[in-house]
Amino acid sequence: SKKLRVSEALEGSDVGSNITVEGWVRSVRSQKDHLFVHVNDGSCLQPLQIVASSDLLTFGSAVEVTGCLKQSPSRKQPVELLADQINVVGGCDTLEFPFKIKERHGLDYVRQYPHMRCRTNVFSSMMRIRSAASAAIHSHFTERGFIQIHTPVITSNDCEGAGELFQVEPSGQTTEPDKNFFSVPAFLTVSGQLHLEVMSGAFSRVYTFGPTFRAENSQSRRHLAEFYMVEAELAFTQSLEDLTKVMEDLFRSVTEQVLDRCSEDVDLFHQRVSPGHRVGSSWVLPGISYTEAIDILNRSSHNFVFPTTWGCDLQTEHEKFLVKHCGNLPVFVTDYPYDLKPFYARDNLDHPLHTAAAVDLLVPGVGELCGGSLREDRLDLLTARLAQAGMEDTYDWYLDLRRFGSAPHGGFGMGFERYLQCILGVDNIKDVIPFPRFSHSCQL
Ligand code: 4AD
Ligand code: MG
Repeated sequence: SKKLRVSEALEGSDVGSNITVEGWVRSVRSQKDHLFVHVNDGSCLQPLQIVASSDLLTFGSAVEVTGCLKQSPSRKQPVELLADQINVVGGCDTLEFPFKIKERHGLDYVRQYPHMRCRTNVFSSMMRIRSAASAAIHSHFTERGFIQIHTPVITSNDCEGAGELFQVEPSGQTTEPDKNFFSVPAFLTVSGQLHLEVMSGAFSRVYTFGPTFRAENSQSRRHLAEFYMVEAELAFTQSLEDLTKVMEDLFRSVTEQVLDRCSEDVDLFHQRVSPGHRVGSSWVLPGISYTEAIDILNRSSHNFVFPTTWGCDLQTEHEKFLVKHCGNLPVFVTDYPYDLKPFYARDNLDHPLHTAAAVDLLVPGVGELCGGSLREDRLDLLTARLAQAGMEDTYDWYLDLRRFGSAPHGGFGMGFERYLQCILGVDNIKDVIPFPRFSHSCQL
């Protein structure tokens, strides 16, 4: 008999033929001398209903079923498989199995079982959505003429200068400065931006989408030690507005594709995890400046844990307040204090207050989703800033980019897990990545 995936069987074109499916038992219901078994193999949300004579089947076991595919008499499913053979490939002890039949386990509960939670409906929906979003990001950029760059995971630069680096050395070796494996200190990347800047100087429009690492100590609901970042860099870009258009376009088009291709999974997710959650289509455009944001925060009567003054960094509580203040819509915040931003940010020389041409995108439920900026393209200003930090030798190659055929450019990074949190309404970032890594936790 023909082997089909559950999603293929459900299409119904094989009704009447003998087929075999393989998968895991999602539910077992017995009625008289029949078992109604739902089998799922992860290919889609809906399980295949198996009708079998009462036998030895348990919730969670892996099975191979052979029989005739029939039109189902019930409206709940288009087809069902009349089994004449059920092969229990791998049994499952229901007493020991962490998930119980007919129980709806919350995300907090299933998170305790990172090797098992993909067997639950909600988590497997999330994984299909994540996969579709990832594919949508690649097609989004490809369709718009961006070249994908595989930026390195191991690097000697600290792009963000925030001191959150994981150092890389062979295991069991000392880290005496002159005995480094690479002869220089090497780290897991915090951002592929500087490598993208190199490539934007040849391909104009480039992007990268891969894992990035930060030794964040916070146990927050929106930080991981390993997360995926989508980064884009565009040459011949002169204004923040050009950049914000690219960010908005990315968000809108990827979201549209995901909602379209995974509507069943998204619906289930919203039903079970985030009732009432919707990704609206309005935005606050063009956005507000950092200075306006500080005014809004200072004028509010809200009691912040961190009080605000011009020059301070925006905390999560401030970002969330600003999003609410703006009607619970995505909002760009532009022109941050120059001293808050890394060496690469472009100095707004014409502003009365000392600011950089940097922009963050804040979104409902999450706060900061994207961070970006125009890059300092004036050789003298960049040299001076690097010299001030004692870094002009380390970044001589970076200065070369401004010496030889330099073009004004800018780019941004979007946290992929935060993006999923935002469109799905997920409170904890650990629930949108298969295997979360954070301080004091590296399970599996
Ligand atoms: O704002 P960030 O630090 O910007 C950069 O790294 C730039 N070099 C990007 C660029 O311009 N090419 O990080 C970008 C985004 C943040 O807005 C946030 O969404 C996400 O990455 N992010 C994290 N997500 C999960 N866990 C963490 N620890 C994160 N740190 C940043
Ligand atoms: Mg940032």
